Amino acid sequence: MKAPAVVLVAALLIDAAALGAHVQPAQSHRRLLADPAEWSEPGGTYEPAGGAGSWESGSSTGIIMIHANLMKDGTVVGWSGRNQGLQEYGSVVYDPVNRTATQLLDRCGIHDCKNAFCAGHTVTAMSEVLVFGGHAQQLQWFRSYTHVNRTVKSTLMSSGRWYPGVATLPDGKVVAIGGVLDSGEAGYHAEDTPHYDNPSYEVYDPATGEWSGDQYDMEEQLTKAFPIHTYPHAVVLPDGGLAVSAGKLLVKYDRSGPLSFTKAYSYGSRPGPPWSYPQTGVGVPLPMLPPYDKVHFLAAGGSSKDRARVGTPASAKAHVVELTAGAEATWQEIGSMPHKRVMGDGVILCDGTIGILNGAADGIGGWVDKPQEVKFKDGSTWQCEEKCSKAAKPVYEPTLFDPETGKWSAMGSLSEAERPRLYHSVAVLMPDCTVLTAGSDVTWDQTAEIWRPPYLNKGEQLQIPYTSTDPIARSILIRNGAVTHSMSFDTRALWLTVSSDTNGTLSLAMPPNSNVVPPGLYMLVILTDKGVPSPAKILSVLPENGTLAE
Ligand SMILES: *[C@@H]1O[C@H](CO)[C@@H](O)[C@H](O)[C@H]1NC(C)=O
Ligand SMILES: *[C@@H]1O[C@H](CO)[C@@H](O)[C@H](O)[C@H]1NC(C)=O
Ligand SMILES: *[C@@H]1O[C@H](CO)[C@@H](O)[C@H](O)[C@H]1NC(C)=O
Repeated sequence: MKAPAVVLVAALLIDAAALGAHVQPAQSHRRLLADPAEWSEPGGTYEPAGGAGSWESGSSTGIIMIHANLMKDGTVVGWSGRNQGLQEYGSVVYDPVNRTATQLLDRCGIHDCKNAFCAGHTVTAMSEVLVFGGHAQQLQWFRSYTHVNRTVKSTLMSSGRWYPGVATLPDGKVVAIGGVLDSGEAGYHAEDTPHYDNPSYEVYDPATGEWSGDQYDMEEQLTKAFPIHTYPHAVVLPDGGLAVSAGKLLVKYDRSGPLSFTKAYSYGSRPGPPWSYPQTGVGVPLPMLPPYDKVHFLAAGGSSKDRARVGTPASAKAHVVELTAGAEATWQEIGSMPHKRVMGDGVILCDGTIGILNGAADGIGGWVDKPQEVKFKDGSTWQCEEKCSKAAKPVYEPTLFDPETGKWSAMGSLSEAERPRLYHSVAVLMPDCTVLTAGSDVTWDQTAEIWRPPYLNKGEQLQIPYTSTDPIARSILIRNGAVTHSMSFDTRALWLTVSSDTNGTLSLAMPPNSNVVPPGLYMLVILTDKGVPSPAKILSVLPENGTLAE
């Protein structure tokens, strides 16, 4: 006999306060998920339920998609470096449903004719892409692209930033952190030229267009980590502060004013070599659990040795640190990944597991002008003459990390991709819970390939509004991807308590404040008790009191 259909009333989600009024004590609902502190034996492997997953061609992206952002309408706004397909300042809107790419804007693209390759970026609740820095002569530029009317504006920042970190703060302001003052002047070849370092940060207010000017409260960390400190990871914490990871140094900053931070303390360093570019590892905050007072951060892979070079094996090691545990927080080694991996992409998936895709088993990030023939798995080849790969062994098999158990998917348990995705590639979660992979300029790759994780094969898929014969057990909110260079700026996810499920209406308890859910676009996914996800509904979390808007 079929259970009654359940209908999610999306309107209920618009006002978090009204929603709060619906919250009932979590009666029969099973406890959400385990806290990493409760992992019985982290490490080890599992066979994913639902089988090996599969890959499909995503057709052409029209450009080498090096930067990718999931917009509110479910399309992907992406761009390449200058002169990499389609138009000089290659920019596209890629539709993952129809698998078509259309040119974005005129000849100047989202770059506004100022090369936005190697910038840092994020997407606001209003579906604007904010792009900080860039490449060559244009690394002092900032661009603000509005997707609803497809317009772009640019303005100068206080200083140049190649490979900056970016984080959206609880009040909707955005901080750009670090980077260097000239293209390519990061990596050990730059260690004798510290004048290229930019150890400052600058805060931008999208509501007013105001800038803080360069601030130097993070200088000690960034200077010490130079030259392996670019694209620092920055995670907003429940107290409104910021944890910043650069090289192997991890520091907690407090928000001391609307436009400034002060150092609170240094955490211990991640064991092993520094893992910023070009030793590039993966860094992802694990999905948070109610009451959202803890943040665990996963760091996985990167180079196995300091001063890695072409041919240096990648690392399979992974560590988790509780960023909310104070200065005494320790990095817990959690058992190795099934594959060594440098330049991977970490993607929070619709069931709260972490997908690790792309990258290579040896080498480092960056270009080398040593001609090489690239063989693709489909038998085609490409002759690289310049700007070729510093990594030789693409890893084709994705890996899953299950934050509930601390375990990895077993080697060989998941289907392999067809295309190598090396330096300058992306992986982004799509609203249908697949993952878009694209890019890799060292293989001049203008294709997309779409990964269907095993959870899409575990049962009938749900819709929002949805019907389900299985009980709805969980719901998760996942930040839309804004991805480049193994970074997913502002990435985070939060499990929502299904506080009631009565008369065909689900009530979901929203997180208490914008420190745990900073403004921006988020995908809402509901899951059955078998772990089958619905396609996502993309919601805007507004800067005002963390309210939601459709
Ligand atoms: C994609 O296909 C749908 C359904 O055929 C259509 O409504 C939509 O306009 C298409 N999108 C684009 C960008 O062509
Ligand atoms: C596009 O939208 C943005 C944000 O609403 C607005 O500031 C801008 O003036 C608009 N541009 C045009 C050309 O309509
Ligand atoms: C339950 O849902 C039905 C159909 O939407 C509606 O007519 C009815 O008033 C609801 N009952 C309660 C108690 O909310």
